[in-house]
Amino acid sequence: MTGNQVQADNITMSGGGLYSLATVGAKHVIDLATPRVIAALESLRERKAEHWCFSDMGCADGGTSLDLWRHVIKHIRSTDNSDIQVVYADQANNDFNALVKILHGLTQFDSYLQASANVTVMESGASFYTPILPRASLDLGFSATAMHWLSKTPINLGSHIHMVGATGEEKSRFSSQAADDWQNILLQRVREMKPGSKLVLVNFCIDEQGRYLGNTGGVNMFDQFNSNWQQFVDDGVITVEEYNAMTLPQYYHTVEEFSAPLLHKRSPVYEAGLRLVDIETAVVHCPFAEDFRVHGDSARFADAYLPTIRSWNESVFGGALSSERSLQERREIIESYYNTYRQQVALSPKGHSMGYVHAYMTIEKVS
Ligand SMILES: C[S@@+](CC[C@H](N)C(=O)[O-])C[C@H]1O[C@@H](n2cnc3c(N)ncnc32)[C@H](O)[C@@H]1O
Repeated sequence: MTGNQVQADNITMSGGGLYSLATVGAKHVIDLATPRVIAALESLRERKAEHWCFSDMGCADGGTSLDLWRHVIKHIRSTDNSDIQVVYADQANNDFNALVKILHGLTQFDSYLQASANVTVMESGASFYTPILPRASLDLGFSATAMHWLSKTPINLGSHIHMVGATGEEKSRFSSQAADDWQNILLQRVREMKPGSKLVLVNFCIDEQGRYLGNTGGVNMFDQFNSNWQQFVDDGVITVEEYNAMTLPQYYHTVEEFSAPLLHKRSPVYEAGLRLVDIETAVVHCPFAEDFRVHGDSARFADAYLPTIRSWNESVFGGALSSERSLQERREIIESYYNTYRQQVALSPKGHSMGYVHAYMTIEKVS
C-alpha cells in the first residue's frame, strides 16, 4: 500500500454516533436539500415502482439524514404502499455499528424505521468509487458532504494542508485527480441507475464568489489550521515530514467543474446517459457561530465549535504523525493542536466560523 493510500484510509468520521451529535450544520445542509429530493421523487412517481430503491452514499452514522428519509417515506406513503429500501453506503472503515444502532432505534436519535411499514434498510461498506448496487436497480441516489474526499492524495502539498491553499503544479495535480474521481463516481452510478432515475448530490464547492467551507468572511479556517500546524514545526513539536504528510485528500469543485462531464457531449458520462437537471450553490451558516451571536460566551463557543471540526479531520492529522511515535505521544500532540485552536477561538472569537458552502445538484439518467 502506498503512503497516499494509507492517508486516504485515515479519513473516518468520529464514531459511536458522535459524528451526528457534533455536526448539526451537516444536518441543516441535508434539510435544505430535502425539497430538491422530494421534487426528484415526484418526477419519478408516474413510473409506479413495484418497490423503491434509494441510496445514501457517504452516510457516516446516518443520524444527519434521518429526517430526509422520513420525509421521503411520508411523501411516498401519501399514495403508495409499495416496499421501500434505503441502502446506506460508506467506506468499509466507517463506524457501521453506530449506523445500525441509530437506524434500529437503539440511541437517542429518532429513527423512522420502527414507525414505517414495508421499509427496510441495508448497510454497505462499498465506496462510491466502486459499484454499490446491482445494475439498473436504483431509483434515487442521494449523497451529502461526502464526495469531496478523493480516492487518493495526488501529491503531498509543500506549503498548505488543503487544496484551497495550493497553487501551480500542485493545484493542477489535485484538479486532475478530482476530475478523474468525479467522472468515476458518476460512471459507477449510471450503471446502477434505472432509466429515468435521479441523483441528488450535495457537495462542498467553491462558489461563484470564491467562498468555501470555513471561508465565508472572517477568519479562513484552513489557513488557520495550516499556520498552527506550521507553528508546530517551528516549535519542534512535529517534523517537516509530518507537516508535509498532513495533506487533506479533498477537493472542492467549482460549479463549472461539477457540470462539465454532464454537459459535454463527448464526455463518457454524457455518453453513458447522465444529464444535469440543475445545479445551484448555497451557504449554510455555522450554527455554533450563530449561537455565539446570541449567548456571547466565547469559551462556550469554542467548546461547542471544536468537536465539529475534530469530527472530520482528526483522523487525518493523527495519520500524518510518524508511526515511530508512541500512540500516547501522538494523542498528546493532537490534543495540543486542537487545544491551540480552541484557545485562539476562545480568546478572539470574532470571525471564526465553519460556514458550509455546497453545490446542490440534480442529475438524471436519460437512457
Ligand atoms: C462529512 S461525512 C458526511 C455524512 C453525511 N452524509 C452528512 O452529510 O452528514 C463524509 C462521509 O463520507 C464518507 N466517505 C468518504 N469517502 C468515501 C467513499 N469513497 N465512499 C463512501 N463514503 C465515503 C466518510 O467515511 C464519511 O462518513
